[in-house]
Amino acid sequence: MLHKTLKPFPKDFLWGASTSAYQVEGASLEDGKGPSCQDVKVVPEGTSDLKVCADQYHRYKEDIALMAEMGFNVFRFSICWSRIYPLGDEETPNEEGLKFYDEVISELEKHHMEPLITICHDEMPMHLALKYGGWSNRFVIDCYVKYCKTLFERYGKRCKYWLTFNEVNSVLHAPFMSGGIATPIEELSKQDLYQAVHHELVASASATKIGHDINPDFKIGCMVLAMPAYGMTANPLDQLAVHEFENQNYLFSDIHARGKYPNYIKRYFKDNGIEIQFASGDEEILKNTVDFISFSYYMSVATAHNPEDYTIGKGNIMGGVENPYLEKSEWGWAIDPIGLRLVLNDFYDRYQLPLFIVENGLGAKDVLVDGPDGPTVEDDYRIDYLQKHLIQVGEALQDGVELWGYTTWGPIDLVSASTAELSKRYGFIYVDRNDDGSGSLARYKKKSFAWYKSVIESNGAALYK
Ligand code: BG6
Repeated sequence: MLHKTLKPFPKDFLWGASTSAYQVEGASLEDGKGPSCQDVKVVPEGTSDLKVCADQYHRYKEDIALMAEMGFNVFRFSICWSRIYPLGDEETPNEEGLKFYDEVISELEKHHMEPLITICHDEMPMHLALKYGGWSNRFVIDCYVKYCKTLFERYGKRCKYWLTFNEVNSVLHAPFMSGGIATPIEELSKQDLYQAVHHELVASASATKIGHDINPDFKIGCMVLAMPAYGMTANPLDQLAVHEFENQNYLFSDIHARGKYPNYIKRYFKDNGIEIQFASGDEEILKNTVDFISFSYYMSVATAHNPEDYTIGKGNIMGGVENPYLEKSEWGWAIDPIGLRLVLNDFYDRYQLPLFIVENGLGAKDVLVDGPDGPTVEDDYRIDYLQKHLIQVGEALQDGVELWGYTTWGPIDLVSASTAELSKRYGFIYVDRNDDGSGSLARYKKKSFAWYKSVIESNGAALYK
């Protein structure tokens, strides 16, 4: 039942949208930036590369002004590690890189938007991956901590909200993109993978400690890819498969929120002959827990003990069995607004920590048409997706969940992480750029632009009209 008469969103709720540097900035080797793991991504023929993207590196003022017009009071973006430390292991940061984000933050201040910064969104400096094997190597913890310290000291007076890693659990499924681990996943042993995970978790907890030491008012969160799983049948074996699937993800939020490895993973390690090497002090460092849990939510999956008997669905990094009850996006991702309410309740019940939805959105093929005020996109499908998800957010608020904010993916069209297509569009703002690299890069407001503005202006009340 919908609580139509209740005001669902808290008065200081943070509304906005979210991007990552490598998907939106372009300027991939400008002003001293070093190559990152993303710059060597092999993109399918006919798709754009990351050199230009939405060209936000040169157009951030225009883009931030458009976001302000929608009423954003928060903008989640990532800092590109290799703009700040081009190699990753050098001692001195690249001043030009630091200056760029100074200017972005100033622009946000001008428009009264809170920065929510992802310190590393899937783009470790390439050099750290090639020379050290990314998170496989403990030394990378020092490089990351030095980078975090540089950011906290430089921007800490003006930025309060920080996320240590984007979708930290995705390293289990995309070890190179997420963790700079060059060994192909098929050849990577579980021992080596989980040892690398340990290093990344120690790095995250170290950053949380240093951040809080520098400024106790910082709000530092983890960010996980949330994907609830449903059992295909009431067979307890299917429910056990759900439990095991979900534990793989909870592992990351459990350690960030509780400061230690949970017992269920100790059993998994034992069964799989995994022995994590803890350096002295690691156990203490992990106790530096986060202030809030943030997550991305696009879809749910179904799972079964016998997945080979079903059709395997497409999905965001992790897959699953196709759920016959759900519609799918053009890219085959299951659309499940109620799943978002479940995720919010599950996280809140589990940790009683504030939550932040930092990614949610629909990738779709938009068609530019002539409108009364110039070119536009009639993206009712996107409005429908977001509206249904936000109504479930309102339900979760009524359930008692503490939620700080909601940032969609993304404010503006950007390059897709999974397919490298710009034609997989998510934005409220259309970017005139095509997969083949053609287009003027001009920005146009889609129909969803005015819709999101009205939702923000009314602090959610417009959702119920
Ligand atoms: C999330 C990532 O997994 O999903 C983003 O944090 C990504 O970087 C988003 O863009 C949507 O995925 P895709 O593959 O459609 O771009």
